[in-house]
Amino acid sequence: MGVKLVDVTKVFVDQSNPGRKFTAVNRVSIDVRDGEFVSFLGPSGCGKTTTLRIISGFEYPSAGEVWIAGRMVNDIPPNKRDTSMVFQSYAIFPHLSVGQNVGFGLELRGRPKAEIKEEVEKMMEVMNLKDLSRRRPDQLSGGQQQRVALARAIINKPSVLLFDEPLSNLDAKLREQMRLELRRIQQTFGITSVYVTHDQAEAMTVSDRIVVMNEGNIMQTGTPFEIYSRPANRFVADFIGRVNFFTGKVVSPDTGGSGDVEIEFPGGGRKTFAGREGSFKKGDEITLTVRPESLRLSGGASAGQNIFAGTVTKSVYLGQLVEYEIDRGGEKPVLAVTYDPADHGFFKTGERVGIDFSARAAHILPEKRE
Ligand SMILES: Nc1ncnc2c1ncn2[C@@H]1O[C@H](COP(=O)(O)OP(=O)(O)O)[C@@H](O)[C@H]1O
Ligand SMILES: [Mg+2]
Repeated sequence: MGVKLVDVTKVFVDQSNPGRKFTAVNRVSIDVRDGEFVSFLGPSGCGKTTTLRIISGFEYPSAGEVWIAGRMVNDIPPNKRDTSMVFQSYAIFPHLSVGQNVGFGLELRGRPKAEIKEEVEKMMEVMNLKDLSRRRPDQLSGGQQQRVALARAIINKPSVLLFDEPLSNLDAKLREQMRLELRRIQQTFGITSVYVTHDQAEAMTVSDRIVVMNEGNIMQTGTPFEIYSRPANRFVADFIGRVNFFTGKVVSPDTGGSGDVEIEFPGGGRKTFAGREGSFKKGDEITLTVRPESLRLSGGASAGQNIFAGTVTKSVYLGQLVEYEIDRGGEKPVLAVTYDPADHGFFKTGERVGIDFSARAAHILPEKRE
């Protein structure tokens, strides 16, 4: 019951200039397993909606294959693909009650009244919409309307649920609640889901795996943990949260097969990274990615004994954490975050601090540009 894309490509022809072609989706391949929740994440215009429309059948791929539940569906029309789409605008019928909206798909298929009633009641219960059955959609909150839209999609028991930025219209607090709700509902029904969003926190919360896209290309596919802590390249590192890039040089590669890589940083500090496959050789210039919360700061006499040192140029107290910017002579300041400042102390603007991190928290990219 999964979804498989094999080298799916979409080339649009510019209407005002038919000679000009534009590749919106470029050889996208992904195997979404039965019951899995996979998100396409990327900036606006990177090809997410086009990919989703190709899965649903509303867009025809220029090349490649689309498989749903083990069947090649390139030439199958949308209404025969056994998918259901949930949009950003709720697309519920204003003139029908909530219950009628939820039961609409069953009504269309001519199911018996009693059966529809029972199915709708069950669905309303799971969706936390109990007792709202007789209301009109305009008497519901945004979150409730979104749950009605979802209930209406799920009640048809599609093989695949498709979501296009379904939470974008909700305010921030509701959006966070609905993320968890969506995940709970998807897991309750175990429906294979393909989700599109430009919001990285949303993708992290709901997904089993994330496909990061940029300009029509897949940049990386992985679990939220892999994407965040082991980004495949600078684009992914930068797009998913905040990150520091440090350049260095491999001084001791893995020669004995241990997978250890020793890196020397400008200023002479060295660090050994255990178990990093033998893909680096002596003299390679690399970029290290380290998240702000993985940096450890120290002040006073020990500042100079760290891998890097710098001067605090900005310090923002946010209660549970302090955000620092530290100038170490590079182009960009280093970003550091310290949680629980009451325990870890504060550093003041103008103070000299040492910067260190555990090798485990850092990730090596085989690129040298800072
Ligand atoms: N029907 C179309 N004709 C021409 N260009 C299109 C069409 N649909 C989308 N595009 C272009 O394809 C690119 C990807 O669009 P889209 O898939 O909607 O991106 P996203 O959902 O990631 O924001 C955009 O540059 C968009 O302008
Ligand atoms: Mg879109």
